[in-house]
Amino acid sequence: PQIREWFWTIEAATGAPDGYQRQMFTVNKMFPGPLIEANEGDTIWVHVTNKLDIGQTIHWHGMLQNGTQYNDGVPGFSQCPIPPGQTYTYQFTINNQYGTYWWHSHYANTLADGIVGGLIVHSVHDPLKLGQDFDEERIIYLSDWVHEQSQVIVADLLSGGYKGSVAPPPVDSVLINGQGRFNCSTVTDGTPCSDLPYPEIHVPSNKRIRFRIIHTGAHESFRLSIDNHQLLVVEADDCPVYGPTVNEIIIHPAQRYSFIVNTTSGSNGDAFWLRSNVALSCLGSKQPQAGLAVFRYVDDVISATTSEPTTEPWRLTRRDDLANATAPCVDMDQLYSLTPRVAEDAPTSVSQTNVLSSVFGTFSDVNGHAFSGFAMNGITYQNQINYPLLQQVEEGVPINSSLVANVAFDGIGGGDLIINNLDGFISHPYHLHGRPFFLVARGSGTMDAEGLSNVQVNTNNPLRRDTLLIPGGDWAVLRLLMDDPGVWPLHCHIGWHLAQGKLAAIVIQPDAIKKIDQPSAWLDLCKGTDQDAFGPA
Ligand code: C2O
Repeated sequence: PQIREWFWTIEAATGAPDGYQRQMFTVNKMFPGPLIEANEGDTIWVHVTNKLDIGQTIHWHGMLQNGTQYNDGVPGFSQCPIPPGQTYTYQFTINNQYGTYWWHSHYANTLADGIVGGLIVHSVHDPLKLGQDFDEERIIYLSDWVHEQSQVIVADLLSGGYKGSVAPPPVDSVLINGQGRFNCSTVTDGTPCSDLPYPEIHVPSNKRIRFRIIHTGAHESFRLSIDNHQLLVVEADDCPVYGPTVNEIIIHPAQRYSFIVNTTSGSNGDAFWLRSNVALSCLGSKQPQAGLAVFRYVDDVISATTSEPTTEPWRLTRRDDLANATAPCVDMDQLYSLTPRVAEDAPTSVSQTNVLSSVFGTFSDVNGHAFSGFAMNGITYQNQINYPLLQQVEEGVPINSSLVANVAFDGIGGGDLIINNLDGFISHPYHLHGRPFFLVARGSGTMDAEGLSNVQVNTNNPLRRDTLLIPGGDWAVLRLLMDDPGVWPLHCHIGWHLAQGKLAAIVIQPDAIKKIDQPSAWLDLCKGTDQDAFGPA
């Protein structure tokens, strides 16, 4: 094991990932930001300097943070934001986990301005082995891109709507590895815009390539395919799986998949379209948006041609048709079986069951102002930015239940968290911080503790992951192992919905939290700050 150290500066920078120039927020002027690559057992130090004029936090999506809960990076939950001009060092050791993760700003929805990057953990324990299961690996970042700054949109959404709608804005383009193509002829206000080439992904022929796809976007779901190539799914979030061979993968915000592709469909210079289209059936803007990259065989750079592909999309036989707006918005586990390669049964009994039901509507904030947003168990999250919940629990202060929906698991062993998505037509990707959950049941309608006693749950090596799509009007049961004390956020990973208050606190073993000491630099972040987040989150 070793210490891996990074120095990051978050700053505003002009960028044009799809050709259209705008102000972005970047880490070290990169987009996507710096890749963190480490081995299981390593300790990560990231010195983050915030040069924006607003606060910031960085969240390490999927990291257990057992023992370093205070470095989970969520304002109002696990820290006070890093004030403008200041530096804070995130430190954590990666134990008992490996796979595909990512990091992002957790401050309002500023991840949509560019503060995102990959976090890959290698391990001898990973059943997917280089040389045995695949010959090379690559990362593909997918995002939906909006030209307006997130602060403007969030402020509007909270005060009646952005451009007349309480729904998040339609996407302007789809980015693949931080690059996309906007149609500059539609620009009428003089904003600098230039037509960019398609992003290119180069692969050698006759190899098995492991692709790790990371959805770093804020809103839309994608259907990803590569013309003439089948995708063998081998990892869901950080869980290695025996998955299906598919023509396309549907991926929702914050989720990750690995798939293996055999590059035996062509030879040097041959090109195919890699497509990442907005899944029309998931809430979304109902606007067709195609994301395209050139998937090119390159064995010899000099002689490989550079022409555009002429390939046709797969004729998809399943109901998950790329262009089909009436295809259901579903998660991969609803279409295929995803069996964990490292078998682990969920606890067969539970000592506690909690329910969280969420719904979109018009609510009022602490000052009595009405806004459109989401409530969990009737409560819209209000940020307690200068007094994080973790510290409140540690100091024995009861959580103010009118500011945040919260449920406690104070037993040991297994616990069930039932989530009801009461929004009939809006699907949401729910993310739980801390430990991955076991997905033991899902269905349509609503569920409660009593009803669950009549439901057949699957504890036999169920899928474990950290981000799950629950279709509109459906429920799911997340079985938890209550061995990671903390005040963990459970929230929708549609960044706009997060900023609209769709976030609850899952308190695990409150007594154990009291034994965790924060470093003094962490406590200093809260000194004298009176920062305002945009909106309730
Ligand atoms: Cu990926 Cu609460 O975050």
